[in-house]
Amino acid sequence: MGFVDIHAHILPGMDDGARNPEEALGMLGMAWEEGISDVIATPHYKQGRYHARRQTVLEQMELLQEAAMEQGIPVRLHPGTEIFYRGGLEEKLDRGALWTLNGTEYVLVEFLPPEEYSYIRNSLDSLLGMGYRPVLAHAERYRCFLKDAEKIGEIRKMGCRIQVNAGSVVGEFGHSAGRFVRGLIRKQMADYLGTDAHDLRGRSPAMKKCAAYLYRKCSREYADALLFGNAVSDLLEGAEGAG
Ligand SMILES: [Fe+2]
Repeated sequence: MGFVDIHAHILPGMDDGARNPEEALGMLGMAWEEGISDVIATPHYKQGRYHARRQTVLEQMELLQEAAMEQGIPVRLHPGTEIFYRGGLEEKLDRGALWTLNGTEYVLVEFLPPEEYSYIRNSLDSLLGMGYRPVLAHAERYRCFLKDAEKIGEIRKMGCRIQVNAGSVVGEFGHSAGRFVRGLIRKQMADYLGTDAHDLRGRSPAMKKCAAYLYRKCSREYADALLFGNAVSDLLEGAEGAG
């Protein structure tokens, strides 16, 4: 079992991620070299901008999976969406219009970085009330949490889960994001890692450096959980979209 990347913009032509099948395949090859065995493909869904229709995600994922197999890249792809939260999302999820993470009750959600904590908390609460498990995408990006990391503890207690970007752990997204993420990791308050890869250069599917850091600084048990264990048990095993 390799690492699990639960957040990647790897499906071509769906958002601001991979621009074409060649780039997507290049990213998948790099993911494999970085020790990643499973990628949940999470194109953006943002009302009026990125659509990430359920059927299109599945089709694009299957095409990419086939191409990867032809190239001898053994990374497994799973369907997902990164959803920009807006009221009414719960109804869309209930209709099955969007992919949760691999068809589980876990939903990868994002907000605007300067969003108020009360709005974020109420939105997460509304998802929880409908039986979903929100996973906050790149938790290091929001001002309200950077100012007060205790609030991460609050939303985890409510039932939410926390995804951080592998690049942030090793300081690739700035000093304050790095310090914040490493603080969460020290307190074992991060649950999953994502590369949030968009391309092959600037925001690539890199994981090795982050893994080396985790195995150096954390217990083996927590590093394993963060790099693959939590994702396997919550998102991959026995899920509807598995395969
Ligand atoms: Fe993303």
